[in-house]
Amino acid sequence: RRLRSILALDDFEPAARRKLPRPLFGYVAGAAETNSSLKDNRNVFADWAFRPRYLIDVSRRSMATTLFGQEYRAPFGIAPMGISAMMAYRGDLALARAARDAGIPMIMSGSSLIPLEEVAREAPGSWFQAYLPGEPDRIAGLVDRVARAGFETLVLTVDTTTMGNRENNVRSGFSTPLKPSLRLAWDGALRPLWLWDTMFRTLRNHGMPHFENSYATRGAPIIARNVERDFGARDHLNWTHLAQIRQRWKGKLVVKGILHGEDARRAHEEGADGVIVSNHGGRQLDGAISAFRALPEVKSAAGNMVVMMDGGVRRGSDVLKALAMGADFVFVGRPFLYAAAVGGERGVRHGIEILSQEVDRDLALLGCISPEEVGMQHLMRVGGVTQ
Ligand code: FNR
Repeated sequence: RRLRSILALDDFEPAARRKLPRPLFGYVAGAAETNSSLKDNRNVFADWAFRPRYLIDVSRRSMATTLFGQEYRAPFGIAPMGISAMMAYRGDLALARAARDAGIPMIMSGSSLIPLEEVAREAPGSWFQAYLPGEPDRIAGLVDRVARAGFETLVLTVDTTTMGNRENNVRSGFSTPLKPSLRLAWDGALRPLWLWDTMFRTLRNHGMPHFENSYATRGAPIIARNVERDFGARDHLNWTHLAQIRQRWKGKLVVKGILHGEDARRAHEEGADGVIVSNHGGRQLDGAISAFRALPEVKSAAGNMVVMMDGGVRRGSDVLKALAMGADFVFVGRPFLYAAAVGGERGVRHGIEILSQEVDRDLALLGCISPEEVGMQHLMRVGGVTQ
C-alpha cells in the first residue's frame, strides 16, 4: 500500500510529516539553533568519494557483522530516540521487534514511554540507553534494573550535560512536559489518522503515556511538570560517575556522544567496551563536529574499543563511507522513527530492508565481500577543508 511508494529512507520523512501533528514532527526533524551540525551531518558524506575496484568475485559477499561477540545481519542498527510511543503506537516495541526480526540491534531510549522490561521481553537482543543519574544510589538502582530486565549492552549518553537549545520546538509548540493547549488540540485534530492510530489506541489500551525508565521522572506522565527536572540535573556529572557505573554493570558498556580523541581514550581507560561517535543528530551543541569528521581521531585513540557512529546516515553509501572512515558499525535515527510513524512495525521492517539492500548492492559495486574489507583505500577526499 502506502509503503510501496517508499523507495529510500528519505521518502519516510514527507510521509511522516503528513501523518504527525506539527509539534511532534518538528520535535523529530528539528535540531539545535542554526541547524549547522544537522546539515553538516548530511553534507559531510559528499566530501568523500568512493574509489571502487572491479573484476573481483563478490558473488559470495555477506553483510554480517560481529559486535561484542554477537553476529548481526547488517552493519547498522537503530539509534535511541525518546518518546517514540508518541509518534507511533507502542513505538519502541515496533522498532525493537522489526530490528529483532531483521537481526540488527535497536537501542531503547531512556526517555521512552514504555517500561524497559517490556522491550527486553519482546526483543531480548535490544540495547538500553541511559541518561546518567547523578546520585550514586540512583546509579545503582537504574543499572540493577536494566540488568534484571536482561539487557546485555548499556549505552550511556554523555552529550546531554544540559538540554540543547531547540528553538524549533518552541516555534512548533512542542515541549516536555507536553502542555495541553488549544494549539496542540488543533494540530492533533488536523491529523485524524495519527489521533486514531496512535493517540486513541494508546489512551484506550495503556492510558496516559508516562516516562517509565528515567531515574528522575520515573512514573511521571508526559504532561507532568516534574518532567523538566530530568534535564538540567545532570550538569555536575563527570568521569567518576562513569567509573561507578563500570563497577556495577557487568555487561557491555558503550559511551554515546563522544566527539574527541581524548574523551575516547578516557572512556577506554575507564573500562568502556565501545563508543558511539555522535553529535546527537545536531540536537545538542550546535556547531559540534559531525561524527563522520571525528571518526579518524576517535578511532586512533580508541584502543580495542568498538567504534560506532551516528548522524546523517541515510544511504547504503553513507554506511560504507563511515565504515571506510574507521567505524565498525553505524546507527540510524530519524528515518526509522518516521518509518514507525508511517507504517508501524511493517514500516520499520521496510526501512531496514531498503537500507540492507543498498548496503549489499554498494558492497558489490565497491568490490568488497564484507564490511570489514571496506577501508580508507576505498575513499578519496573531494571537498571540504584541506589539511
Ligand atoms: C534522539 N537522540 C537520542 N539520543 C539518546 O542517546 N537518547 C535519546 O533519548 C535520544 N532521543 C532522540 C529523539 C529524537 C526524536 C531524535 C531524532 C534523536 C539522538 C539519536 O540517538 C541519534 O544520535 C541521532 O538521531 C542520529 O542522527 P540521525 O540518524 O537522526 O541523523
